Amino acid sequence: MHRRFVIACSLLLTAIAMVGVPVATADEPADLLSPDRVQRGHEAFGESCSYCHGENGAGGATGAPGLQGRTDLSAADLFGTITHGRISGMNIMPAWGDSLSEEQRWALVAYIRSLAGVAK
Ligand code: HEC
Repeated sequence: MHRRFVIACSLLLTAIAMVGVPVATADEPADLLSPDRVQRGHEAFGESCSYCHGENGAGGATGAPGLQGRTDLSAADLFGTITHGRISGMNIMPAWGDSLSEEQRWALVAYIRSLAGVAK
């Protein structure tokens, strides 16, 4: 009797812990490259990213790398860099995890992935 109560409590606490722990990496949408999402990513890129990364990711004068033809950047890498940002000396890539929703960040990933086939 008492044992069952303890088991029930620990199951409940486990469930609460699983819901309460923030998810560090989000799951990639199955239809990542849907035309709709790529389009939304394109628009968001023009608003938030092109002033450093250049028009359509062609590369900027600010030390921000070009993002066209980048078959080396996986969707998960892109999502991580966009979410957490990156600093190399004077080159600062801002973090967007607090200002853009998960879906907005995936839209940017989709757009940049769509540029992988674009010649630099
Ligand atoms: C203030 C300028 C600036 C803005 C705005 C900016 N970036 Fe960056 N980004 C950088 C710099 C600088 C780097 C290179 C950082 C480094 O050298 O590690 C970078 C790196 C990246 C990388 C990694 C590229 C690689 O070669 O691994 C990605 C992806 C990226 N940015 C995407 C974006 C997206 C998407 C946005 C818009 C939401 C954005 N950036 C906005 C400056 C910027």
